[in-house]
Order: sequence, then C-alpha cells, then structure tokens
Amino acid sequence: MEKITAIRGFKDILPQDSLLFWKVESIAHEVFNSFGYREIRVPIVEKTELFKRSIGETTDIVEKEMYTFADRDNEYITLRPEATASVIRAYIEHNMSSSEQITKLFTIGPMFRRERPQKGRFRQFNQIDVEFFGEEKPQSDAEIIFMLMHFLTRTGLRNLELEINSLGCPDCRPLFSKAVINFLKGSESNLCPDCQRRISTNPLRVFDCKVETCAATIANAPRILDFLCADCENHFSQVQSFLHDLNTPFIINARMVRGLDYYTKTAFEVKTNALGAQNAVAGGGRYNSLVSDLGGPEVPGIGFAVGFERLIACLPEEGSNKFRTDLFIAALGSKAQKTAFSLTNELRRAGVIAEMDYSDKSLKSQLKRADKLNSSFSLIFGDKEIDEKQVLLRNMQTKDQQAVPLDGMLDSIIKIIKER
Ligand code: HAM
Repeated sequence: MEKITAIRGFKDILPQDSLLFWKVESIAHEVFNSFGYREIRVPIVEKTELFKRSIGETTDIVEKEMYTFADRDNEYITLRPEATASVIRAYIEHNMSSSEQITKLFTIGPMFRRERPQKGRFRQFNQIDVEFFGEEKPQSDAEIIFMLMHFLTRTGLRNLELEINSLGCPDCRPLFSKAVINFLKGSESNLCPDCQRRISTNPLRVFDCKVETCAATIANAPRILDFLCADCENHFSQVQSFLHDLNTPFIINARMVRGLDYYTKTAFEVKTNALGAQNAVAGGGRYNSLVSDLGGPEVPGIGFAVGFERLIACLPEEGSNKFRTDLFIAALGSKAQKTAFSLTNELRRAGVIAEMDYSDKSLKSQLKRADKLNSSFSLIFGDKEIDEKQVLLRNMQTKDQQAVPLDGMLDSIIKIIKER
C-alpha cells in the first residue's frame, strides 16, 4: 500500500531533537523569569483580520504566506504566522494594562507560513516569542536585546551577530519612503514585478526582496537613519549607549527593514554563520502604535521571536542530547522475569530510569540493549540467583560488579544509583 508522508515543509521533531527543545525551553523559562516575564499560551488559530491589520496587508506574509480558511460559518480564520498579534489580542482582550503598567509575556509554540521550504525554512516552525508592554524608554530596548543575547548564549550558541536599526516613526518614516520612491523612479524595469508594485504600496519592502536585481538596485538607496526625527534619533543613540553599558556588541544595519509592517524605532536581528541563506535566528523590534491599532490602549511595546528549529540547528554537538538509562534489568528465567517485572516498575515509581526486556533473550543480547540505552548499571540475575537471594549489579562503564542481597534490594539499588 502507498505510504502517507508528512506535508512538504512540515516536519516531525524526533525524540533526539525533542530533548533539545525541552532543554532549550527550560533555559527560556529560567532566563525569562529572572527578567520578570510570565508565560502566556494563545490559540494557534485567529481571525484572519488580526494578522492583516497587524502584520500589514502588503507584506509577503499576509499577501502570500498565510494558511487561511473559511470556517463553516464563513468566517475567515488563519493559522498564526507569528505570535505578536495573538499576544497583543490577548493583552487587550484581558485588559491587562489596567492591572499593571508593565506587562512582560512570553509564549512558545508552532507558527505557519507557506514559504518555499529550504534549509532552516519550514511551513510549520516553532518560535519562542517575547513581548514587553508599557515602556518606551530606550533602557527597555537594551534590556530585551541583552536578555535575548544572554538567552541564546546560555543555550550554547556561539558566533552570533546582533544587527540593529531604527525604522523611525509615523512622523519621519513617510519622508524616507518618499525618498525611496524618488530613488527608484526610472529603475522600475530592474525590479521584479512584486517590487514594481511595492513602489506604490509599500516601498520599504523592496529592501527585503531576495531577487538579485532588486537587491542591486536598492543597494545605493537613501539610508533611513538619515531621515530620523530628533526623537527617534535620540532614542536610537540611547539604545546604543545602553547596549554598550551592558557589554552587548552590535552592528548597525541601516538596510534592515524586517518583514512585518508594525515596527517603529528600534528593530533588530541576530544572525549566525551556521545556517546558510536562512541566517536569522531571531528578530524583533519596537511597536509603539500596534496595541492601539488593534483596538487597545495607547501602550508601547517591544519584542522578539527566536526561530526554535534554527536555534537547535546551530547548537554545537555535545552528546548532551543523548538519552540515558539508570538501570537495565537483565533477567533470565521465568522466576527472575517475574521479580524483575515488579522491581522495574517499583524503581520507576521511585524516579529511577529503569528498563527491562520481556523477550527472554540471551544475557549477551540483553546487555547489548543496556548499552544501546546508555545504561549506567545493569542488574543481572536468573532463577538460581533468586533462589540464592542475591543478584549482581554491574557498573556498565567500569564493568565492576557487586552482589546485592534480594532482601531490601529496592532500597539498596535506589541508594547506589542516587549516590552515583
Ligand atoms: P520574524 O523575523 O518574522 O519575526 O521571525 C522570527 C524568527 O522566526 C526568525 O528570525 C527565524 O529564526 C524564525 N522563522 C521565521 N520564519 C521561519 C520559517 N519559515 N522557518 C523557520 N524559522 C522561521 C516575528 O515573527 C515577529 N513576531 C517577532 C517579534 C516579536 N517582533 C516583536 N515581537
């Protein structure tokens, strides 16, 4: 019969990687907690309108990449392409701004974008998303960037490059957009059809286009940093100064516009050289009008998201993602198997990672399985040992063996394993 495979761009996270996910998640909880963040879990499906209004109608995500469906009652719903919009929707819906001036939230889970799959790019991928509401001071920008770099380093990532930029505000960005439109006038024929259209709909998006001729054409365009108003310029220079104070190195990339329209002022990305073309492990920025644009109060915000699969792909191979077992019980004979069955499950109840074999295989093949399971100890016995009331505990690394009396065996094994 023909086998059914996963959908293109959707991938299974196998146990080895799952273990890494779990470890990274626990580091995320620990690090974010110490900066005052609390976890929120939001649905993976939202009303389509939410993403159109936040990410921007003329972004690639909204124009081409969303998984949108008409629900039975003809309401349009979308598998979330990112988490920021959903977290803000929840922030507004639960009126969080009324109980505290500052709200720090994070969420971890799958996102969906119908992009062309390639190394490091999937149609379902996981993000660790962090949002900081209620503060517009540049210290909060530096703090969240510092936390991101600290978190990535704690997971084991090295050779990271932090890029920052300012995308201005509704006062100064239109002047920059105008300058870009003027710059592109006369060069339309060098641009891809999408970018030709973008000149009138969303000229900043041309900076994000991966088509070579578009990238070459935009290379000498004006720099947004030359158009910032005094407030944005001052904010950006203070962010840099606070990053210096926190010993967080960065480079300024004045061409970075990010793929979502909601950013104001600071934008940032973290890149690594270990990923090929999809080299951004994390990205984020400030969004001072987004909460109110989505019907909430005038509350500024800033956040970022880490690409979980990309982070995992960059982790140095350490063997830390090996599964281990505390004890493998190799029992030979029916009496021995019966004792082993109860013992294995009692040990598990006591928190020992224990395994046994039900198949009555030879000692050699049972011990082979113990090695495969990366077991620290093996307990070996047959019916004869049961009669003699003494079993053998073998340290799988040193091969040392010791006799353990059957009486009080459970407690003595737990003691030996826990003291190891
Ligand atoms: P983003 O830059 O679109 O930002 O995504 C953040 C990260 O998600 C990227 O740097 C990348 O590591 C990962 N990522 C994105 N698309 C894919 C994909 N198709 N396959 C694998 N990984 C991917 C946001 O999503 C914003 N919501 C971040 C943010 C939070 N801004 C403010 N708050």
